Amino acid sequence: MMSEKLLSALNEQINHEFEAANLYLSMAAYCAKEGFAGCSNFFVAQAAEERFHGMKILHFVNELGKKAVIAGLPGPQQDFGSVKGAFEAALKHEMKVTDLINRILDLAHGEKHYATISFLQWFVDEQVEEEGSFHEILDKFEIIGESRSGLYLLDKELGARKFSPEA
Ligand SMILES: [Fe+2]
Repeated sequence: MMSEKLLSALNEQINHEFEAANLYLSMAAYCAKEGFAGCSNFFVAQAAEERFHGMKILHFVNELGKKAVIAGLPGPQQDFGSVKGAFEAALKHEMKVTDLINRILDLAHGEKHYATISFLQWFVDEQVEEEGSFHEILDKFEIIGESRSGLYLLDKELGARKFSPEA
């Protein structure tokens, strides 16, 4: 039997994922305004991925026979200082999400709620990928520095990203 505390933590995570989706859309809008259409596309795909994460937890809560709760979301950050700044904020956000997932896992372990432990393993692996991908992009920004042609190529590379949910 799942505690109310664990159920609330899962419900809060649904909303954190939707909140992340809005944050990434805000980053997409910021990058588009700065003329970085590729980075904007990257963040649109990232937003779709976060929405998918939220839906994944929502379905899990439903499958457990519980009620998922959709809450109001706070407005996302609007200004990121620079396009690189948006990616820095994204990495910071993903690190926060990793902490949140780990905390829910701690709760699930405490309750020996094996279904949640098993379900969240996918998110643990996903967070390693997410943080890794933002680290990689930030490394590229470091290498490029102020080079306009470098930024042009990076923007083009990030523009190729598409989100397709796992099969
Ligand atoms: Fe996520």
